[in-house]
Amino acid sequence: MKKALITGANKGIGFETARHLLQQGYFVYLGSRNPSLGADAIAALKAEGLASCDVIELDVTDALSVEKAAQTVAAKTATLDVLINNAGILGQFPAPAGEDGVLNTQQVFATNYLGAIRITTALLPLLQKAAQPRIVNVSSEVASLTLHQDPAWMYYAFKDAAYVPSKTALNLYTMMLAFQLKDTAFKVNSVCPGYTRTALNNFTADGDPADAARIVARYAMLDEEGPTGQFFNAAGALPW
Ligand SMILES: NC(=O)c1ccc[n+]([C@@H]2O[C@H](COP(=O)([O-])OP(=O)(O)OC[C@H]3O[C@@H](n4cnc5c(N)ncnc54)[C@H](OP(=O)(O)O)[C@@H]3O)[C@@H](O)[C@H]2O)c1
Repeated sequence: MKKALITGANKGIGFETARHLLQQGYFVYLGSRNPSLGADAIAALKAEGLASCDVIELDVTDALSVEKAAQTVAAKTATLDVLINNAGILGQFPAPAGEDGVLNTQQVFATNYLGAIRITTALLPLLQKAAQPRIVNVSSEVASLTLHQDPAWMYYAFKDAAYVPSKTALNLYTMMLAFQLKDTAFKVNSVCPGYTRTALNNFTADGDPADAARIVARYAMLDEEGPTGQFFNAAGALPW
C-alpha cells in the first residue's frame, strides 16, 4: 500500500485530498497542527469506512514539531511515496501598512514557503526510499509572474506582497527541487487547485473542495511517464 503525507489535512482541500487518496487505496498520514482537529478528521474518515489513515501532529512553522513529525512517520513506515505540501494561509488581504504589513508577509512566507521547505527536507530520506516518490506543492494560479502581466487575466488585480509572492517562491522551490532530483524517479510539481470554497476565503468561492482534491491527487499519483518540475491547474500547464 502506497503511503502519503498531507500537511494541513484536517480541513479544506487537504482533508478532501486525504479522502480522495484513501478512496484510491493509499494509506494517508493527515498532518494537523492541532491534534484534536486532526483526530476529528480521522474519525470522520473512519466513519465513512476509510480506515487507512493516521494523524500526525505537525506545525510547519515550528522546527521541533517538524522534526518530531518526521521521527513519528519514520517509526511507522519505512518508505513514504507521496508528500503534499498543502498547509497554507492567506494572511491579511489587503495587507496592513508599514511594519504590520512586513510582519504579515513574514508569517505568510513562514507557512507557505519556509514551512514547505522544512517538512520536505525532513521527509526527503523517507521519500527517497520509495520506488516512485511524488511531491506536490499546492500553489496558486496567482503565483504566475507571466499571468500577472496580462490585464485581461481574471486575477490581474490580485496583487499583494505576501500570499502571491509566497506561492511564486514556492513555485521556484518546485523548480529547484525537480532540478535537484532530475536523475531520480521523483516527480515534483506545483498544482493550483482552483478558487475553492474553504476557510481560506471564508467559504466565498464556488469551487468544490472535492474537485480541487482530484486535481491535487492527480499529480500525487503520476506514473513514471508523468511530468516533473512543472505548474498545473485543472486545465493543464500554467506559465510560471
Ligand atoms: N481555497 C482556495 O481557493 C485556494 C486556491 C489556490 C490555492 N489554495 C491553497 O490550497 C491550500 C489549502 O488551503 P485551503 O483552501 O484548503 O485552506 P484551509 O481550509 O484554510 O486549510 C488550510 C490548512 O492548512 C493548515 N495550516 C495553516 N497553517 C499551518 C501551519 N503552520 N502548520 C500546519 N498546518 C497549517 C490549516 O490548519 P488549521 O485548521 O489549524 O488552521 C488547515 O488545515 C493552501 O496552500 C492554499 O494556499 C487554496
